[in-house]
Amino acid sequence: MKFLDFRSDTLTVPSDSMRARMAKASVGDDYYREDPTISAIEDYAADLLGKEAALFVLSGTMGNLVSIRAQVPPGAAVIVGNTSHIHLNETGHLASVCGLTSHPTPTPDGRYDIPALEASSPVPKPGASPSVLNPRLKLICVENTHNGEGGRCLDNTYLASLREFANVRGLTFHMDGARVFNAAVALGCKVSELVSHVDSVSFCLSKGLGAPGGAIVAASRHVIEEARHWRQMVGGGMRQAGIFAAAGLMALQENVEDLAIDHNNAKQLARGLVEAGLDVDVAKVETNIVMAYIPQSLTSPGEFFDSMKRAGVLTLPPKGNRLRFVIHRDISNADVMLGLQRIGQLTESFKKVQQNA
Ligand SMILES: Cc1ncc(COP(=O)(O)O)c(C=O)c1O
Repeated sequence: MKFLDFRSDTLTVPSDSMRARMAKASVGDDYYREDPTISAIEDYAADLLGKEAALFVLSGTMGNLVSIRAQVPPGAAVIVGNTSHIHLNETGHLASVCGLTSHPTPTPDGRYDIPALEASSPVPKPGASPSVLNPRLKLICVENTHNGEGGRCLDNTYLASLREFANVRGLTFHMDGARVFNAAVALGCKVSELVSHVDSVSFCLSKGLGAPGGAIVAASRHVIEEARHWRQMVGGGMRQAGIFAAAGLMALQENVEDLAIDHNNAKQLARGLVEAGLDVDVAKVETNIVMAYIPQSLTSPGEFFDSMKRAGVLTLPPKGNRLRFVIHRDISNADVMLGLQRIGQLTESFKKVQQNA
């Protein structure tokens, strides 16, 4: 039986042509800045994002960590989304490595409510002197697209408002742009426009873009030099890692536009899941992530998940009654259709059980 694996876009595997590019990559010792392929991806990424400089790092997690540590001193406070990857899924580095106090703040559909943010307690009121009691608020983070909120995109208008919010309060603005290319493709704008609002951005090469590893941080030259220092501190200095950078460079040069295919497949999956009897807000499917809810009337989330697995359809375990399906370049339209067929059969059989109960 063919397994249809919708667990994550981190599951992409390098294509044969990517492996060939990796095999042929020129390499050197990046401690000495002598790896030409790493220098090439850093220059290419800085250019593409319209930032002064960029840094190749091992992972999105490391990218977020070094970006923030490079810009904010220990003891300060940061605003993060309460369902953000940085807050929930990065082992608590904001506290343990960066020495920061986090203010996890709701972001329905991936967005802070800016008026509510202005009124919230960690935010100093313009003109008022900060209390001696509070850690000083220094940074705000966004996630674009927002993984935990269903791959939602933050557009230029929203990001400009948040930039204004940050400017008035002297805050640094960081974007966890693990999937920022998905956002740019979905919004039909240049990625450089989206990241023009932030001081620093990190993005992943190893998700929808299809490289086997690596991420990029882009920012001002000064921040990138600081981030390079912190990358070293956390053991992320690399030697002949041009082999990895070659895959990332190819992903950036050749795979960005293909993300639109994933987005179309995700929309088709969302519509099909609704037809099969799951609850999905199709209008909220903007990129490659589909959040589907198992109606209570059908069966329990655990039972549905187990039976999907037996039918060869994989997702991560449900959160409450919510299942997350993630599309990527190694999931074809035929795979989506086959997955829908199997899920349709499952929901039919659960409906029959309910009717006969
Ligand atoms: C939004 C977001 N940020 C950061 C990361 C971390 O990336 P990595 O797994 O490369 O550390 C992920 C990984 O899934 C993510 O979804």
